[in-house]
Amino acid sequence: MPYETLILEKQENVGLVRLNRPEAYNALNDQLMNDLTAALDDLERDDNIGAIVLIGSEKAFAAGADIKMMREWDMLDVFKQQFITANWERASRCRKPVIAAVSGLALGGGCELAMMCDVIIAADNARFALPEITLATIPGAGGTQRLTRAVGKSKAMEMILSGRPMLADEAERCGLVSRMVALADLQREALALAGKIAGFSQPVVALAKECVNRAFESSLNEGILYERRMAYVTFGTEDQSEGLAAFVEKRAPQFKHR
Ligand code: HXC
Repeated sequence: MPYETLILEKQENVGLVRLNRPEAYNALNDQLMNDLTAALDDLERDDNIGAIVLIGSEKAFAAGADIKMMREWDMLDVFKQQFITANWERASRCRKPVIAAVSGLALGGGCELAMMCDVIIAADNARFALPEITLATIPGAGGTQRLTRAVGKSKAMEMILSGRPMLADEAERCGLVSRMVALADLQREALALAGKIAGFSQPVVALAKECVNRAFESSLNEGILYERRMAYVTFGTEDQSEGLAAFVEKRAPQFKHR
């Protein structure tokens, strides 16, 4: 199914979603967020797909929520339509790993969308910012929470209260992104990582992802208990038996995602 504001490709067992509103730096309007929700639904349903890459253009991952759209709305409008809640958060609910490949601008909602993903890889020209304060609003798609968890209070406060952008090398240093790569290598590196993940047992990858996310929702002891239970669960899968057997028999494992 063709989308108006993004391009969806399936490359073997990886889904590649390219945000595509070049006339507006990929500003996130309703159409784009509906398209993104539908594309991620499609990839989640497809058993052949083991991981997803979300990418923008060289100039912009996304320049934030569409300001021309928002300026039409008052408080009751956004409350009634459940702005953000209605169609922005699909990436954060994916069971399959989602890698944000960020080049150029990741501003406001664009930065928040990247932070909803599981891994961010940044091109050396990436620029992250939460500039909502300059519009007399605040991040509304998780930015105050996810940025603070990623980089700590002081840097998050500085960025959110002043709108200061963070360049790719600083983002790598402070752990907002997993690594920085040359712009020319961004898509290849992101697809390679996604392909590697997609080659492992899909249910076990999903369990591992759930456990990491649990770290943000629970105390250390509860999180460790959850992890222990999920580690036990892997002993009930065919893939774990195969993985251990393949090691002992000195051969490559054949995972069946069971
Ligand atoms: C709508 C946008 C846009 C946006 C850019 N455009 N960003 N349209 N929403 N977020 C449009 C411009 O209006 C313009 O359209 C075209 O893209 C090119 O932009 P220019 O400004 O002419 O280009 P340039 O000078 O190169 O500057 C690019 C830019 C700048 C740095 C990205 O446009 C900018 O600062 N944009 C706003 C970024 C921002 O504040 N984002 C956070 C939004 S709030 P025309 O039609 O004139 O050609 C948010 C969360 C809110 O994300 C949550 C509340 C709950």
